[in-house]
Amino acid sequence: MPKVIVTTREGEVREVEGETGLSLMEVMRDNGIDEILALCGGCCSCATCHVHVDPEFAAKLPPMSEDENDLLDSSSDRDADSRLSCQIPFSAALDGIRVRIAVED
Ligand code: FES
Repeated sequence: MPKVIVTTREGEVREVEGETGLSLMEVMRDNGIDEILALCGGCCSCATCHVHVDPEFAAKLPPMSEDENDLLDSSSDRDADSRLSCQIPFSAALDGIRVRIAVED
């Protein structure tokens, strides 16, 4: 299965595997990364799945919707690499993707 390399807020690096067809948020949550609260369950309304994606993978990500962009604007930790992980479908093309969990707002 494709892998995700996650850096937690404490700087711990964890490598997890996920099924394609899930979202990146679901892959992390299902692997016990509990810093991903995902309070809205993935419907793009909470921003508690905010991650910073390694720029190397930016071209492989789907474009950001207006809703995602607006929601990220509410985060103090937003930067050019910010994405909501529930809005990223996980696939083999993302194997090895590196993400860092955003600071909690
Ligand atoms: S889980 Fe709520 S916005 Fe992603």
